[in-house]
Amino acid sequence: MLEILQPLPEDPLLGVMAAYRRDPDPRKVDLGVGVYKTEAGDTPIPAAITAAMERSAASQKTKVYVGQGGNERFNRAMLELAFGAAHAAVQDGRAAALQAPGGCGALRLGAELVNIARPGATLHLSNPTWANHVPLLSNAGLKIATYPYFDRATGGVDAAAMLTHLETLPAGDLVLLHGCCHNPTGADLSRAEWDAVAEVLARRGLVPFVDIAYQGLGDGLEADAYGVRLMADRLPEVIVAVSCSKNFGLYRERTGATFVISPTAERTGNAMGQLRKIARGMYSMPPDHGAELVALVWEDAALRQQWMEELEAMRVRVEELRGLLVSGLKALRGDVDYSFVQRQKGMFSLLPLNTTQIQRLRDEHHIYMPGDGRINVAGISRRNVEYVAQSLAAVI
Ligand SMILES: Cc1ncc(COP(=O)(O)O)c(C=O)c1O
Repeated sequence: MLEILQPLPEDPLLGVMAAYRRDPDPRKVDLGVGVYKTEAGDTPIPAAITAAMERSAASQKTKVYVGQGGNERFNRAMLELAFGAAHAAVQDGRAAALQAPGGCGALRLGAELVNIARPGATLHLSNPTWANHVPLLSNAGLKIATYPYFDRATGGVDAAAMLTHLETLPAGDLVLLHGCCHNPTGADLSRAEWDAVAEVLARRGLVPFVDIAYQGLGDGLEADAYGVRLMADRLPEVIVAVSCSKNFGLYRERTGATFVISPTAERTGNAMGQLRKIARGMYSMPPDHGAELVALVWEDAALRQQWMEELEAMRVRVEELRGLLVSGLKALRGDVDYSFVQRQKGMFSLLPLNTTQIQRLRDEHHIYMPGDGRINVAGISRRNVEYVAQSLAAVI
């Protein structure tokens, strides 16, 4: 049976990471990997999560199965984090959450649900988008299309092109929106642009599917929820996928959730029943550990405060690095305008570099990034930001 299978080509990002590890040069910089890093280059467990682990270890008496919906305290926490506890849709049960194995699992569950409700529906993704969106969502049976999003000339969103395109889509299609910290570009919609997108979606009967994997890493926890809250306020139906990988530092614990928002609690309840059935058919139920830690942090005022401060420190660090990179480059190359890097949000920026420039950065300067020029700003540090700016100045 297996003899018919051919080896697959290596994931290009894994190749970049392997080349970085092999490089003995002490100046080497890894801007490829998509995880938060400290000044020392580590991806630590937040102290609030470590405290929750200790509490959980001391108090947990059983590992008996949780239900198919996962940890219900976690589900409640996720809704409160995204919408606020007082949000009408949360209060009256029109919004509900199902724990999922990470943001990827949440996206896939949402796509499977859509494909049951509307088989073979078309889901429109931003151009560009996170590469894994395509297999995660299309493997559920959805058709994938794209809408214009990024303006390479300004490093921002081409909102006019996006809105014009959305006006042409047939009612019933779905539109995937990055809740904040767009991956790979770092270019986010402004509030006015979110408002305009919500207006077009509502008027044309399009359904938003919001992927929010970086809440708290753009402008802050509340500000980053603007888009997802707006969609819940203005649109009758919304699907949301959330991830705790980055903001709670729980990457390998596979902690996320799928939300459904509909006009009635009954309809939402029916959708949740379908989601539980989908989960049962794929993996039965999600892993509990990460969800229990998030619930413990969220329910304890002191731990929640500590986590919020730790997250804010991560956000501020990335924002500061963006500023240092832009000013460093400006001082060396007055003819080059990279000020868009400062305006972009979250961990990623898509730099307008060509293949030769990216290769030169790697071969001559030991700076590693994937072939599309997406950098993880958190991979820079105060110590090497000057070197990164000098290297960019040399190849641009
Ligand atoms: C845009 C986006 N969505 C979702 C995810 C899912 O993350 P995870 O499955 O690790 O929670 C990621 C992770 O990189 C992402 O960048």
